[in-house]
Parts: sequence; C-alpha cells; structure tokens
Amino acid sequence: MSDASVSGSEWTGRTGKSWAHEWQRTDRSFGPLTERLVAEATKASFEHALDIGCGAGEVSVRLAQTSPSSHVSGVDISEELLDVAKERAADLGNATFELADASQWQPAGKARPDLVVSRHGVMFFDDPVAAFTHLSQQVARDARLVFSCFRERSDNLWARELSSVLDASPASADPRAPGPFAFGERDYVAGILERAGWESLQFHAIDYGMVAGEGSDALEDATSYFMRIGPAARAISEMGGEERDRAISRLRAMLGANRKGDRIELPASCWIVSATLAR
Ligand SMILES: C[S@@+](CC[C@H](N)C(=O)[O-])C[C@H]1O[C@@H](n2cnc3c(N)ncnc32)[C@H](O)[C@@H]1O
Repeated sequence: MSDASVSGSEWTGRTGKSWAHEWQRTDRSFGPLTERLVAEATKASFEHALDIGCGAGEVSVRLAQTSPSSHVSGVDISEELLDVAKERAADLGNATFELADASQWQPAGKARPDLVVSRHGVMFFDDPVAAFTHLSQQVARDARLVFSCFRERSDNLWARELSSVLDASPASADPRAPGPFAFGERDYVAGILERAGWESLQFHAIDYGMVAGEGSDALEDATSYFMRIGPAARAISEMGGEERDRAISRLRAMLGANRKGDRIELPASCWIVSATLAR
C-alpha cells in the first residue's frame, strides 16, 4: 500500500509517519506476499542480508529469525519507521538498522551483503539505474537480489477501485516516476537491472488478497486503514464538508463489496524479482 506518487522527501515526512503508525495493518495487508518473498530470499543460505527500504522491519526480522547465524542490516530514510523496526528487533542479536539512502549506502565494515532484499522498497529512487549500479558495487561477488514490487496499476484492482470511488487522479503523468507502480512494467525493470549489472533475472507474478480489514467490524477497520494510508488517505485529507462525507461513504460501499467472510480483502498483483550479479 502506498500513495499514488511518493518521493523520498515524503517518506521522511508525512508518509513515513503514517506508515510508522500503521505498521501492523500494513504488515497484515502484505501477508501472503511476505511469505512468498521470504521463501524466495531464503531459498539459498546467506551470511549478511541488506534490506532496502526496510520500513518497520518485518522482512528484516523474519530473515534474522529464520537465519540466526546470519546478520541482517535494514536501511531506510525514515527515522520513524526505523524506530519501529529497532523496537521489533530489540530481542534479536543479529538485526541492525541504519538511517541511510540506499542509493548511497556503503557497508560499515568488511562484510559485504550476499543477499539484497526488499519488500516494496526499491521503487522510489530518482535514478534507479544509478542506485542499482551503486548497490551492485557494495555487495559480495555472489550476491543475490530478491525484491517485491507492485505490477502495473491496471493489474491492481485495489488501486483502480480506490481511484474510482474517490475520483482521485489515477496515476501520475509518468507511470515510471518514483512511486508504488514505478516498477510495474517487467521489461522496464529488466532493463534497469541489466544496465546496473544484474543478470539471471526472474520475474514471478504473484496475485494475492490484500487484507484491509478483519474481525468483528472489518468494514470499519478497512475504512479507517485506507483513510490513514495510501491514495485514499491523501485524497480524503484534501476534501472537506459534504465532498468528504460522500467520498467516505463511497469508500465504505466499495470496501463492503469486497468482504470475504470476516475480512475485507482486495485483489493485488505484484512481482517477485530475483537476480544475481554479473561478474
Ligand atoms: C512501500 S514502503 C515499504 C517498507 C517496508 N519494506 C515494508 O514492506 O513494510 C517503502 C520504504 O522505502 C523507504 N525508502 C524510500 N526511498 C528510499 C531510499 N532512497 N533509501 C532507503 N529507503 C528508502 C521508505 O522510507 C519506506 O520505508
């Protein structure tokens, strides 16, 4: 889940704060995807993982728990999100977190990551080729890269439905501008990675149910979640009076139509991309 077009400075401000506040519901929304991503990342053993745009740290924590003899470094530009990650990993001796722009990150010591992982944290670079080239120069020769990202907006019904009920702008002018759907096009992403020195690219298309609400009042849970995070939150925050009331009631109706048992679940589509270094 994320805003329609999100620059780095927004992650250090309002967007990062909302995500830090909503990390539990956000982890829930990614649930099935996280299982697939962690399974792909841990297909081979690793000594040192680098989690790019680690946010509130779920993937870092999962990797550190799965591989207690390995070390995981989470890197993010949002202090608020890193504070949550540090608290969650407080009992783990093998996960550390660092405030840094991943496109300029350098290892502090001699150990170089042999696994670079990210759950939806790599679509916000202004110059993705430069960022992935830089990362390729910081990691071990045999490093693997495994990340998830949304497929194109048109493949993601959750985003299309939110835009239509809110009359929100469906996309930024440039679909490749930094933001949640910037890595939607497979060939475009493949071109970035190949130019940055990565090879053996694999793209796995993952369709899953994004859980927005659950429990005794799943509809209220989902409505309040979307009013805090993502494109709906932004659009609604800019409305007032009756326009706002009408938007919230259309949002509730759309979410209610996506009820599955005691959950509100919206169709989402992602890539899990993996690669190795070409050296
Ligand atoms: C969509 S969120 C995903 C967060 C986390 N990986 C998760 O799955 O919950 C994107 C994250 O990337 C971070 N981010 C954006 N640009 C970054 C950069 N240049 N370097 C490091 N982190 C960045 C944001 O602060 C945010 O935490």
